[in-house]
Amino acid sequence: MKPLSLAARARLNTLKFTFDEVRSTQVGYPANQNFDYTELLPFLNYPANNVGDPFHDSNYRSNSHQFEREVVARFAGLMRLEPENAWGYVTSGGSEGNMYGLYLGRELYPQGIAYFSEDTHYSVLKNLRVLNMRNIMIKSQDNGEIDYADLYETIRINRDVPVIFMANIGTTMKGAVDNLNTVRRILKDLAITRSYIHADAALSGMILPFVPDPQPYGFDAGIDSVAISGHKLIGSPLPCGVVLTKRDYVARIARSIEYVGVMDTTLLGSRNCWTPLLLWYAFERYGLEGFRELVAEMLAVAEYAVERFNDVGLPAWRNKNSVTVVFPRPSLEVFNKWQIAPLGDIAHLITMPHVTRQMVDELVKDCLAPGTDAGRGQWHRHGYGSYGNGDLEVTNQAAEVAN
Ligand SMILES: Cc1ncc(COP(=O)(O)O)c(C=O)c1O
Repeated sequence: MKPLSLAARARLNTLKFTFDEVRSTQVGYPANQNFDYTELLPFLNYPANNVGDPFHDSNYRSNSHQFEREVVARFAGLMRLEPENAWGYVTSGGSEGNMYGLYLGRELYPQGIAYFSEDTHYSVLKNLRVLNMRNIMIKSQDNGEIDYADLYETIRINRDVPVIFMANIGTTMKGAVDNLNTVRRILKDLAITRSYIHADAALSGMILPFVPDPQPYGFDAGIDSVAISGHKLIGSPLPCGVVLTKRDYVARIARSIEYVGVMDTTLLGSRNCWTPLLLWYAFERYGLEGFRELVAEMLAVAEYAVERFNDVGLPAWRNKNSVTVVFPRPSLEVFNKWQIAPLGDIAHLITMPHVTRQMVDELVKDCLAPGTDAGRGQWHRHGYGSYGNGDLEVTNQAAEVAN
């Protein structure tokens, strides 16, 4: 290969400059920027590939399956799944993990209907189309949690059909958690015996295991599979995630492939060898106590942000155990400067580990500039719905303001 031309090198420098420039004002998306994986750089020099099931042999020996299995075991512990019954792999991110969960649900119940709320991540609807699954969207409550009354009524009129439920364990926009106890109660009340619950725990899957009073989120709460992103809370230069499920389910879809000597249980063939190493490395360095401290600080900064917004009269709020702070959609300048994620009248700030109190102060100050109060006066009550069990605790003076 010839050396890189000056022009090509300049382009790379410009890209790096842009990355450096925007990182200090990235508050709208859940991507932890505080990481250092330089010790793993030597592994970039190998044509490594994690093709196949990480729990089976492979003819292709340059792989990190051993590390991948340890990562799966770590997540199984967090998600309260017994190690002997745990299976999973490192995915390309939450979307692939959600597709895998839906795929398993469909293989178990080919005629099933998938139910998911309006606040579900956009990838889910696309996944359902790709999988050609029958599906029904359920209304959401104002805080982003599913509307249990609508869920009850919709399942009731389809009682003869198996239920494949996509539970949001932390919605994208409002960090809301669907109450798994309530969902299971609905299934029981309606005498639904054939059901599958997949949890989309992209961000909150790394929060709830570390808080003192989590909403139900794990396999002990009745889920059958879960997807968690790796590049969100843990932080990674490459998008990644983990999907976890029970071994018996996977046995139904496994096929042996002679060509690479692997069990074909994953969605993709060739898979990333690096991302399992990154996640393994992060767990080694943080340890569970490190993650607990990280999460506690993120939640403290989120509460600080709610208070600062409210202090200046901007109605910000957040769901229980959530680092997603919802506030009125700001002006275009604020929006661009802080890389804010919008949805209609609202926007959010996510207090990932790199988001400091100082950044929050600056953002709040910027939001006070003219033209930023689009959402004021349009805040709705955060209803519990007739199936809510009172677990919801919107940390929110603003809700009272609006009520
Ligand atoms: C709740 C939720 N699910 C799924 C995803 C998709 O995850 P990924 O970007 O890792 O594919 C996201 C991403 O923001 C999300 O917030």
